[in-house]
Amino acid sequence: MTDTDGKWHDVGAVPDVAEGELSGARVAGLKLCIGRSDGELFAVDDECPHAGGSLSEGLLDGDQVVCPLHAYGFEVRSGHCPDDPSCSIRAYAIRLEDGKIQVRLPEPQTDSQEARPHDPGQ
Ligand code: FES
Repeated sequence: MTDTDGKWHDVGAVPDVAEGELSGARVAGLKLCIGRSDGELFAVDDECPHAGGSLSEGLLDGDQVVCPLHAYGFEVRSGHCPDDPSCSIRAYAIRLEDGKIQVRLPEPQTDSQEARPHDPGQ
C-alpha cells in the first residue's frame, strides 16, 4: 500500500485514547487495536497471528504491543514481530479529523484486480 492508497474510515466511539492504553475497535469489518505511544496514535490488527490473542487486551511496552497469551511483541508503527517475523501484523495510517479518530484501510480487491491462475488451455 502506498501513502495514498486506501480510504479513511471513522473509528467511531473510541474514548480518548490515553498514553499507554489500548482499545479495541471494529472498523469496516476489521478488528483493530488502537493506542497511543510517545504521544502518537497507532492502529494495528487486533488478532495475533500466533494463536489468535486479542492484542487490545494486551499491554503496551514502549513501542510494542505485547500479546496477552504468549507475550509476542509487535512494533506499533510497522506491525513487525521481532519474536517471530512470520507473525507480523498490519499497521494502518491513523489521524484525527474534526475531533474523530480515522484509520486508512486498503480498498477490498475486486475479481478484476486479483491475480488469476495461469490457464494452460490458452
Ligand atoms: S497468541 Fe499471541 S503470542 Fe501467542
